[in-house]
This record gives sequence, C-alpha cells and structure tokens, in this order.
Amino acid sequence: MGSAVIAVPEPAALPAGRVFSEEFLRVRDLALDWIHAYYDVDHLRRTGDWLLALGPEAAEPLVIAALTHDMERTVPGGPVIDKANTPWDDPAYNTAHCNRSAAVVAKWLVGQGVSDRFVRGIHQPILEHEFGGSAEGDLMQAADSISFLETNRALIVRWVQGRECSLEKGRDKLRWMCDRVRLARARDIARVQFQQAMADVDQRLGL
Ligand SMILES: [Fe+2]
Ligand SMILES: [Fe+2]
Repeated sequence: MGSAVIAVPEPAALPAGRVFSEEFLRVRDLALDWIHAYYDVDHLRRTGDWLLALGPEAAEPLVIAALTHDMERTVPGGPVIDKANTPWDDPAYNTAHCNRSAAVVAKWLVGQGVSDRFVRGIHQPILEHEFGGSAEGDLMQAADSISFLETNRALIVRWVQGRECSLEKGRDKLRWMCDRVRLARARDIARVQFQQAMADVDQRLGL
C-alpha cells in the first residue's frame, strides 16, 4: 500500500463504515476526558487519529492505547530525562516511561470497570510506543512519531527558549521522531511532517 493514499486525518474522526463496540465508544469517551489532565492533550488525541489513519482496522484496545500512551507523566514521581544532555533514544529513560505508562493506563482502565480485553490489549502497544517491535507496536510508534511531529513544534520552541536544550538538540528530537519510524507505509508521512516541523521551528524562532 502506498503512503500517498493516507491523508492527514480529521480531528477525532472514526473510519467511515467501521462498526465499533459500545464498550469501545464508552472507553474512548472516558479516555478523551481523562487525557485533559495531560499538558500535551493534543499530541495524545492526534496519536489516536493517526493510528486510525494508518490502520483503519486497528484493534479497539490499540486505539485506546494510542490516546493514553504518555499518561504516566500526569502521575508525579516518574522518570525524568535531561533534555540538554541525554540522547533522545536513551533506553533507560524510554523503557521506564513506557513501562510506567502501561501500568498507569492499565490501573486507570481497571478503575473504570473496563473488560479485560482492553486492560490486556493496551499493554504491549504502550510498552512499544517509543521503539516499536511487534506489528501493533510499530503502528503505535508510527502514530506517536507522526503526531509528535505534527503537534509539538511549539513545544520544541519552548524548550529552546527556556534553555532546557539547545536548538540543535531540539532539532535532534524531531529528527529522531522521523528516523525511528519502522512502519514502511508511515515513513513518507513522517518525512513530510518532519520537514514542516523543522521549518516551523525556525520560523517561530525568527531564523
Ligand atoms: Fe512517550
Ligand atoms: Fe507520545
């Protein structure tokens, strides 16, 4: 399948013609409410959108995983990355972040009285959202990467202006989000978003 047929998704669109379970629609509404607690709710929403754009038949729990995959950052005490000095692909930080998010999301789902297929189904995709691995993990990682490139240009600018990292390190983050994509049909889309993000960051910084 060529990537040219995958268009930028409409916000919160569900694939036309696909029938979802009532439980999925309920859990999705709950998740969309819950993720308002996250400072970067747009990134989470768009990860859900891009997941369905890249995989219109993706399993229902995978969509919930996409919408919630970074939520460990709303719970104090999580891993912290030194943006200035630590490589973005640092395995220790990223593994801790993924493991903790999988646990936080699973606990939240159990608390909502959601059926076990959702609790089990979010686990591996959230564990793999930074590095990929399985087929579902690669789809998650592609959606996360493209959504980051699309939604977090102003965030990179804030890091640079706030001296959390250098401009080059900020650009490195965007480069990693693009280069790490394992899903073949997502690579061209990631490249387009990367080029737009790089130009947008420069423009916002007046370069
Ligand atoms: Fe993440
Ligand atoms: Fe993310």
